[in-house]
Amino acid sequence: MSVSDPIDRMLDAAESGKSIIKNRNILHFTYIPNIILHRDSEQEQVTQSLLPILKQSRPSNLLVYGKPGTGKTLVVKKVLSKIQERVEKSNFPIKLIYSNSKDETTLYGLLVSLGRQLNLTEKELPSTGLATSEVFKRLLNKIDEEKLNAIFVIDEIDYLAQLVAKTGKDILYQFTRANERLKQGSLTLVGISNDLTFKEKLDPRVISSLGEEEIVFTNYNVEQIKKILEERIHDSFIENSVEEPALNLCAALAGGEHGDARRAIDLIRVAGEIAERQQSDRVTIEHIREATQKIEENKEETSLKSYPLHEKLVIIAIMKANGSSTGEIYSSYKNLCKVVGRDELTQRRVTQMLSEIEMSGIISGRIIHQGIHGRTKKYKLTISSEMIKKSFKDELTLQDII
Ligand SMILES: Nc1ncnc2c1ncn2[C@@H]1O[C@H](COP(=O)(O)OP(=O)(O)OP(=O)(O)O)[C@@H](O)[C@H]1O
Ligand SMILES: [Mg+2]
Repeated sequence: MSVSDPIDRMLDAAESGKSIIKNRNILHFTYIPNIILHRDSEQEQVTQSLLPILKQSRPSNLLVYGKPGTGKTLVVKKVLSKIQERVEKSNFPIKLIYSNSKDETTLYGLLVSLGRQLNLTEKELPSTGLATSEVFKRLLNKIDEEKLNAIFVIDEIDYLAQLVAKTGKDILYQFTRANERLKQGSLTLVGISNDLTFKEKLDPRVISSLGEEEIVFTNYNVEQIKKILEERIHDSFIENSVEEPALNLCAALAGGEHGDARRAIDLIRVAGEIAERQQSDRVTIEHIREATQKIEENKEETSLKSYPLHEKLVIIAIMKANGSSTGEIYSSYKNLCKVVGRDELTQRRVTQMLSEIEMSGIISGRIIHQGIHGRTKKYKLTISSEMIKKSFKDELTLQDII
């Protein structure tokens, strides 16, 4: 039997090889763990705030704040599901609805997603074509007709604020004041945000009614992150497959920065995968280091891939003329446009693009004073050119120039 077939070799290795992750789903970000550590007081506060719904009266609107990965979504979802369990037993006309603004590209889309969860059909609420005020009216009518006590959780509500900025700010205000328009039933709004400054972008009237109550989630410290990790590792990894120093490093890296539990869990998952691929039966410090690097690279790759074509051309121009001035980059860019057969944009536009790309951190600029010749700005890459080639290699238009 031939052992040189590359596919067979990998499949053999996977079958006989060590798998140290016993349940991958538990490491996925949507998994809701049974035990939520260090968040008793937050769970109590959120429950307390929503309690009135069980007595069929309207809870206050609620705003939940805190840095990324501090357990906001987790806690709110858990409270909702616990309330839901009780509602199902008692047949109250209660409706708990969760929607993440980041998943929607328009305000209309978000409203429709809420409407679908109220069981509004395509016929009652078409996916396109109405004015947003009309969509909103139909949501309220549904609540009114069925005398529903509804809680709308809008996660990452700062994105909604951005969507709203484009479509007219009034909708959030209308949301928070919906009860004045309801004859029967009620609507409570729960907003979740990790952007602590997002309030500044809102209309003060919206802030005062949305923030009737506020709950702030503090950052986890390294010790707390370590406990969360231990719990998660226990359920998802084979016993003793994560070395203590690796666990400590993982907690230190995720806890040290901003106490982000998501980052900690991502790190251990990626480290586990790397360890398995290397046929190792334990996750070591080295695997955690490699995981950090891999996650960083994935972020860079995703952000590079998401640029429009001309931004990509500008990035390639810098790669080819690393450390050049704006003028030199522009000539190099113009050449690339010729090669790929696209019309070039103006130098002014390209200069503007350079500043935008600089903000994302993949290039850095430095002003150079040239005496009587004035000044110019020189740019260089902060990432490797291999990373750029790797990220752009699938784009047909760019294949000839990279
Ligand atoms: N106290 C905890 N116990 C167990 N797991 C936790 C805890 N806090 C957070 N996690 C886990 O960490 C990850 C991030 O948590 P969550 O999604 O709730 O963060 P978040 O505060 O909503 O962050 P963001 O603002 O970025 O949305 C999830 O996988 C969650 O299960
Ligand atoms: Mg969240």
